Amino acid sequence: MDHQKAPPLPYESKELLALSAYVARQSRGLPIEPKIEARTKPFLDSGREAFHRRQGQLNLSCSQCHDDNWGKKLAGSVIPQAHPTGYPIYRLEWQNLGSLGGACATASSGFAPRSRSSAPTSSSTSSST
Ligand code: HEC
Repeated sequence: MDHQKAPPLPYESKELLALSAYVARQSRGLPIEPKIEARTKPFLDSGREAFHRRQGQLNLSCSQCHDDNWGKKLAGSVIPQAHPTGYPIYRLEWQNLGSLGGACATASSGFAPRSRSSAPTSSSTSSST
């Protein structure tokens, strides 16, 4: 952007998603190893705190599903570990390529009461093996 003197691609635009998909494809298989330094630590801490904070009308934290119950099923979906890798992805639900931000919006809206059950079921097809 700086070098090309080009305007930034709009967030969630087709062009930015395409570029992110290309970079993500090249990063496949690499470990997630964020550098923890003084500048980034407050963000890491605040993210960790938010992930463990109970919130919303269901009073659930992200970790209650994604750490404590991953591998079990919730309303027909396997509860994943919520790893942020692999984005952007195509989802049938979106009928399009979408970013991690889009997935997080879906996750957050999941806190609103819907017809789905609020507690993970134990009809586990545990993928932990
Ligand atoms: C009630 C259980 C529950 C809670 C609470 C929950 N999630 Fe999820 N989450 C799920 C399930 C189930 C899926 C899989 C949904 C699907 O594939 O359609 C999922 C999917 C995800 C994904 C996509 C992961 C992937 O492999 O693509 C992310 C990211 C995510 N959640 C993040 C969060 C965050 C952040 C929070 C807290 C703000 C949160 N979730 C809270 C159950 C939960």
